[in-house]
Amino acid sequence: MCGIVGYVGRSEAAPILLDGLRRLEYRGYDSAGVAIVDGDHIGTRKCAGRIASLAKLMSEKPLSGSYGIGHTRWATHGKVTDENAHPHFDASGKIALIHNGVIENYQALKDQLAVDGDDQFTSETDTEVLAHLIGNIYRQLDGKDSKARLVNAVRAALKQVIGTYGIAVLHSDIPDFMVGARRGSPLVLGVGKDENFLASDVGAIVAYTRDAVYLNDFDVVAVERDKFEISSLAGEIGDRQVSKVEFTAEDIKKGDYPHYMLKEIFEQPATVRDAMRGRLSLEECTAKLGGLNMTPAQLREVGRVVLTGCGTALHAAMVGEYLIEQLANVPTEVEYASEFRHRNTPMTPDTLVFAISQSGETADTLGALRESRRKGYRTLGICNNVASTIARESDGGVYMHAGPEIGVAATKSFTSQLVILTLIGLLLGRMRSLSTAEGSRIIEALEALPKQIEEVLKLSDEIKAIAKKYADVNGVLFFGRQFNFPIALEGALKMKEITYLFAEGHPSAELKHGIIALVRPDLPSVFIAPDDGVFSKNVNNIEQVKARKGPIIALTSGNGAKKLKGIANDIIEIPDVPDCVSPILTVIPLQLLAYHLAVELGRDVDKPRNLAKSVTVE
Ligand code: M6R
Repeated sequence: MCGIVGYVGRSEAAPILLDGLRRLEYRGYDSAGVAIVDGDHIGTRKCAGRIASLAKLMSEKPLSGSYGIGHTRWATHGKVTDENAHPHFDASGKIALIHNGVIENYQALKDQLAVDGDDQFTSETDTEVLAHLIGNIYRQLDGKDSKARLVNAVRAALKQVIGTYGIAVLHSDIPDFMVGARRGSPLVLGVGKDENFLASDVGAIVAYTRDAVYLNDFDVVAVERDKFEISSLAGEIGDRQVSKVEFTAEDIKKGDYPHYMLKEIFEQPATVRDAMRGRLSLEECTAKLGGLNMTPAQLREVGRVVLTGCGTALHAAMVGEYLIEQLANVPTEVEYASEFRHRNTPMTPDTLVFAISQSGETADTLGALRESRRKGYRTLGICNNVASTIARESDGGVYMHAGPEIGVAATKSFTSQLVILTLIGLLLGRMRSLSTAEGSRIIEALEALPKQIEEVLKLSDEIKAIAKKYADVNGVLFFGRQFNFPIALEGALKMKEITYLFAEGHPSAELKHGIIALVRPDLPSVFIAPDDGVFSKNVNNIEQVKARKGPIIALTSGNGAKKLKGIANDIIEIPDVPDCVSPILTVIPLQLLAYHLAVELGRDVDKPRNLAKSVTVE
């Protein structure tokens, strides 16, 4: 949430900051702003609304200068107004600050500042309090070296903060200099030639440099044009490795697609292939997952698995529970990361915990990972972002290799997570009772997926026509059984997120326990009913909806279409696959249905209302 970008160099800062903000806009888009220093004058432009509004403002009132900071906001404290947009300033008006995170004790800090007479605030934000605190301390510190003084003021202020932050700070009297710091919110330093950058996400700066230093919690970085110095909050100087960013600016372009979400849906044949690339052993009919950092003996000793995550990643975990229990017969539980981190779940020492997260930065998932490690459990990550905090702090894991996902609604990362969970089930299963025949059947099914996904994607126009037909409905219900129950939840989540329609997902059989009361002619039900072992049970539920005049969209395979003809209003036919890989196919028509309906309703698909891509606050 919130995007941060900072620049110190020889070029004009304004276009670089605006470009970075455009690339970060998916992280939050309530309001935006920049502060740029020209000589000893600090200029700021900020406004509620999208980056486009900020760009317009800056074209009307340009800012010049070769160092500055920019921010795109996802509101936590304070309404979406021009005043609450970042940057915020200290009482002197010389120190500008941008912030991603939440200062939990901002009221106590504000009260403390008031005692010093520092009580004039122009916004309702927690961030402005931090700017004032830094300024207040800066004024009290001695020393001729103003750079060291600013760094020390930042350190001293942050020592008083309870909460999370990724920040960038500059002072109009200290040329070509900025300070960054992080705790709980990501911050990366981009290392250029005679220019350096700060960003909350490397995507913001990858067009300028692919050399990056991923900062750790409690790091403070002093950034100049030609050098940088990283130290701890306590002031100890630290050494950090400069790494190469594994993607380029080209990879985060929309290409010919109207939306990132559609582009990412259509990337799935490739991303599913990449998730299993080099990880299948045909000889041993198993999976090879070296990144788990576990010996075969350790894997054999796993007595229980806990899968945790949020949102779409949680739905992947729910499919994972069916997979690992069916393939490996290892008891598996799914925990909402936000709940798991705060409760005392009884666990045995042989429990293996997986934190699943596309971004690898989700605050609750990271909190769950840390809590689990604190209690001594081996905790692994399933992440897309290889440089993320979850990837770095876990004991090992499996990368998705799905490439950057920009659309706020997760799509390709979900199917990659499902592939990886299938591989984990296969690996654990083959060390237990899963036969070679079963193992090779699963491998065959996995290898066939990219082509089958291509087939499903060809249904896009057909699904678009269905979406048009239902454009004036009041909501959508989703039903599925077994492996496809979590897909009903995921279908409903996609629908809610981008169409803003009321949508719910349920196990099909729950229908008669209450949900059936909702059924009516203007509320379609989507049934995920492939021709599998529970198909006939799904048909019973479909008939129950039909009898009450509820429109039915059925997603089926094999002989399912023949049987549902005359019962379902619309039928979407997908290839017939073994039940354990079925969710990787069934979710795709639901992604397309939500997408086309959202477009039909004129929604902002890639930046849906109130949401942000990476949820780094609790
Ligand atoms: O980056 P993560 O996978 O940890 O994100 C978790 C959720 O915030 C995310 O899946 C969210 O629910 C998406 N907007 C779903 O489309």
